[in-house]
Amino acid sequence: MNAFKMVNFWIHLISGFSYVGGIFFFLLYLSPASKNYLNNESFRIFLEGLHDRFQKLSGLFITLLLITGGLNIHFSHLTRGEFSKQYFVALSFKILFFSIMLTHYLLILKLLLGKEKKTGLKEIPFKQTMAILGLLILFMASLLKNLA
Ligand code: HEM
Repeated sequence: MNAFKMVNFWIHLISGFSYVGGIFFFLLYLSPASKNYLNNESFRIFLEGLHDRFQKLSGLFITLLLITGGLNIHFSHLTRGEFSKQYFVALSFKILFFSIMLTHYLLILKLLLGKEKKTGLKEIPFKQTMAILGLLILFMASLLKNLA
């Protein structure tokens, strides 16, 4: 067993689940549960604070995903040899979907850094789109695992 490969994969899984899991938390639990409180200004400030913290921590997970994902490609190449056409296509789609998420993250980060004071948040921006991208990435991961 290659311990480095195993630890790399473990970090990849933790980062992926924390990032995509956070998006699903907003979509499935927090947003429906907070509908009645959105007129309350202090709740909107709380929601903004929560979202800012999620964005800041996501920076770490996204960086780890890029590093460990790159290493996964290397390890996968070592075990599989030359990639099949299907594997290559699925991997390219996974990277494409991830790049869209990354672009969205960088745009929000730009807003976050330029902000002077909290004004509150009524909605978590683009949560449905991000959740769909997360699902597609996980589908690609499952495809990669099962492709020759
Ligand atoms: C939100 C982002 C991501 C999530 C949620 C995610 C999730 C996963 C999961 C769950 C697996 C495990 C599949 C298994 O059971 O073997 C996996 C494997 C893998 N991931 Fe990711 N990943 C993400 C981003 C990336 C990125 C950016 C790359 C490439 C730069 C990447 C490359 C890989 C590779 C090569 C594998 C191994 C596939 C194989 O078994 O051959 N991932 N990923």
